[in-house]
Amino acid sequence: MVNLRGRSFLTLKDFTAREIIYLLDLAAEYKDKKKKGIAHDTLRGKNIALIFEKTSTRTRCSFEVAAHDLGMGTTYLDPSGSQIGKKESIADTARVLGRMFEGIEYRGFEQSIVEELAKHAGVPVWNGLTNEYHPTQMLADMLTIREHFGHLEGIKLTYMGDARYNMGNSLMIACAKLGMHFTACTSKEYFPDITLVTQCMEYAKQSGATITLTEDVDAGTKGANVIYTDVWVSMGEPESVWAERIRKLSPYKVTKDVMKNAGKNAIFLHCLPAFHDLKTKIGKEQGEKYNFTELEVTDEVFESKQSLVFDEAENRMHTIKAVIAATLGA
Ligand code: CP
Ligand code: NVA
Repeated sequence: MVNLRGRSFLTLKDFTAREIIYLLDLAAEYKDKKKKGIAHDTLRGKNIALIFEKTSTRTRCSFEVAAHDLGMGTTYLDPSGSQIGKKESIADTARVLGRMFEGIEYRGFEQSIVEELAKHAGVPVWNGLTNEYHPTQMLADMLTIREHFGHLEGIKLTYMGDARYNMGNSLMIACAKLGMHFTACTSKEYFPDITLVTQCMEYAKQSGATITLTEDVDAGTKGANVIYTDVWVSMGEPESVWAERIRKLSPYKVTKDVMKNAGKNAIFLHCLPAFHDLKTKIGKEQGEKYNFTELEVTDEVFESKQSLVFDEAENRMHTIKAVIAATLGA
């Protein structure tokens, strides 16, 4: 019997395949209840803190709606409105919030910060994205893939773009744990860190997963079940990296040809937000500066039937609800 009560959720490295599947099953149950209008406010009277040192739409809304559905209260601490990191250390913040809240979500910079928070809080801490990992996103992605294909084992997932940051790292870990075939298809400077690759190779030995790193778009995307990408410049990275990213990663844009090479049954996923057109402030500014109209994915692919990005976004809420409920013992 899986029991995650009292555990923090900082990276999927800390969880077994069985525990991850348990969370996916629980999320599916909550999704079913939500669709049928069956109340599940079993955590009434509890409260959680949501610390966001970087901005968010999906993750924040998912935590707030999930907590509300479970009967809980939430307090949102925005990127500028608290003492965190400026007048008060993470260890002190953790000990204060741990006295008031039953759980704490943290989105921010280094993974070491969320680890430090978890060490001192005395209550479960959930990683809502760090530079290195985005574990709640993984549960939504895996649920979406499982809903579509009916299983996870043996699924071939190809990640294109910046594979050495939170999304590439986390997808490699998730695939390695769950017996999936992970390919990072990108320029070699953007391959995941070798230490993490080695660690994932160990997980893969247990699960039957494989890990491939390639610069070859044709070989890397052929027959893939899932083509995945993310923005080329992540939150918190300096403006100065744009030119190099566009130069190095443009060959790894997800296009109609990439999807065709993967096959007609392949799906497209993206954690969002995405630069698939110029209808955003940053997209427009950068598009004018570097002369592009779409970046990591073409608008055609983003809007196609193969794109399940909005099912994926919805699943953020159901899976985050499962994490809160399992770790707080709903
Ligand atoms: N995918 C994701 O984490 O989205 P937000 O940045 O909007 O939370
Ligand atoms: N790599 C992106 C993910 C956003 C959900 C970032 O860190 O900005």
